[in-house]
Formats: sequence, structure tokens, C-alpha cells
Amino acid sequence: MFKDRVIVITGSVQGIGKRTAELLAEREAHVVVNSRTTEKVNATVAEFEAKGYSVLGVTGDVSNFDFCIEMHDLVMAKFGRVDYLINNAGLAAKGTISETQANVYQKMYAVNVLGSLFPTMAFLPEIKKTKGGVLFISSMAGIIGLPSYSAYSGTKRSIVSLAESLKNELVDDEVYIGVNYPGFTENDAKKEILSPSGEANVMIKREGVKVEPLDKTVNKIIRQIEKRKFRSYSSYKGRALQTMYRLFPTLSLFALKKNRRKIMDMQ
Ligand SMILES: NC(=O)c1ccc[n+]([C@@H]2O[C@H](COP(=O)([O-])OP(=O)(O)OC[C@H]3O[C@@H](n4cnc5c(N)ncnc54)[C@H](OP(=O)(O)O)[C@@H]3O)[C@@H](O)[C@H]2O)c1
Repeated sequence: MFKDRVIVITGSVQGIGKRTAELLAEREAHVVVNSRTTEKVNATVAEFEAKGYSVLGVTGDVSNFDFCIEMHDLVMAKFGRVDYLINNAGLAAKGTISETQANVYQKMYAVNVLGSLFPTMAFLPEIKKTKGGVLFISSMAGIIGLPSYSAYSGTKRSIVSLAESLKNELVDDEVYIGVNYPGFTENDAKKEILSPSGEANVMIKREGVKVEPLDKTVNKIIRQIEKRKFRSYSSYKGRALQTMYRLFPTLSLFALKKNRRKIMDMQ
């Protein structure tokens, strides 16, 4: 299904995005990798080319609309079409609303929300022509607002609304739209998280929570696109949380209240 398809994956020089790009390239897709850091983009391109993959690297910030248009132009110049966009680039942040600086929210909403919307706006005209699709990477944290993760939960939930609007706007165009909800997934050693004052700190290894293997999360993403499913969860916990919240919102918020300390103390 992915052979000769052109697939743009934002934020794809490490972690979930990079592995998704790699597995799609293995299946003979032409992949576009991206991040804000030239060295990381160049290293990923070199690594993929050494494996014989078809790849284009584009450095830039997806929360900047002009950059998204430039990325579109570079992809069209190299491959002449776009089939799928995976809006994977995202930042993590932790801190209560009382302690978090305003600029952290500005950055989180810019990257996680506009950084998913702007590439979609840039690539959509081409994706309509190919009847491909757009997948948004949300999170289990986008199902319910977690204490100490308001910036992350809020932005990941906004993405779901965007996807829902888009899905119905594009019914007649036969464009696929999906939302993926990864659970805690094995991190890249360089993954960062913003502190309440806005410093980017390397995320310490998560203790005391079950972490999904990277390939499990990535294979779910790829299968979801193949099946053109609207929602997919990397763990049964995500699906259970979604079902519980939909059916019993008050009970879900009560359970969250009972577990708030554990969540707020989680690293
Ligand atoms: N890992 C998990 O447990 C988990 C769970 C649920 C959801 N998710 C979601 O899954 C996605 C990938 O997660 P991950 O853990 O693999 O992330 P990650 O290791 O932090 O990688 C994110 C990538 O995005 C790039 N990036 C960040 N801001 C960008 C921007 N403005 N423009 C372009 N690229 C940007 C980063 O590179 P540069 O810094 O070089 O730009 C980095 O390569 C994220 O959306 C995340 O929220 C992850």
C-alpha cells in the first residue's frame, strides 16, 4: 500500500516520528523527514540513504506557516506529489497552571496545535488530488485534562477537534483523516520536556509506569493508516479511558481526582 507513496512525517529525527518514517521507507514509500535542527535532519537523511531508502530532509519549524509552504514546495519539487501527512511533531510540558509561565503555553499551543494545523493547510490541496490522508498524533493525555499537564492535555485535545472538523469537511473529497492516541512509549534518550519556566530538560526515564515498546506504537500508527481508521490507541488503557470518559464522564473525573497525586508526582 505504501510503495511509491510520498509521506511527510513532521518531527521525525528521533522517537516515534523517526521510527515511523523508517518503517514506511522500508515499505518503499518516499519519506520526508523534518525537525528544527539541521544536524539531526542531515544525520537522519544520511542514515536512511545508507539503508537505500528514498528520503528528503527539510529543516524548519512547523508552527511557522511560511515554512510549511516552503516544505510543500520542496516536497513537490523532489517527488511531485504528496499522499500522506503525519502530524507527529510535538512538545511535552509539565507544571501546574499556577506555576507555569505564559510563554510555555504560547510555545505549546504554537507547536502542538498550529504545528499540526499549518502543515495540514499547506499539504491538503495535494492530498485531495491523491485521495491520501492526514494523521494527527494526539496522546492518551488528550482524552481527559490531566493535573500538572494542562498545556500538554489541552493541546493534544485541540488536535482531536481539528481532526473531527476536518474529517467531515473532507467526506466528499475521500481524504482519510485519523487521530492516533499513543500511550506512554519508550522515549528517545534525547526527548525533552518543558519546565514551568520554559527550560527544555531531557526527560528522565519513566519509573513506575508501563511503557509501550516503540515498535508497538509505531506499528499501530501504520496499521491505522492502512485501515483508514479514524481513532486508534497504542494500548488497551487508552481505549478503556476513552470509553469510560465517554460513558461516565463524572465517574472518570472522580477517578482522576482520587489519582491526582500519583499523576502530578509522575516524572
Ligand atoms: N513518547 C510518548 O510516550 C508519547 C505519548 C503520547 C503521545 N506522544 C506524541 O507523539 C509524538 C512524538 O513523540 P516522541 O516522544 O517521539 O517525541 P520526541 O522524541 O520529543 O521527538 C519530537 C520531535 O519533534 C521535533 N520537533 C519539535 N518541535 C518541532 C517543530 N516546531 N517543528 C518541527 N519539528 C519539531 C523534535 O526535533 P527538534 O527539536 O530538532 O525540532 C523531535 O525530533 C509527539 O507529538 C508526542 O506528543 C508521545
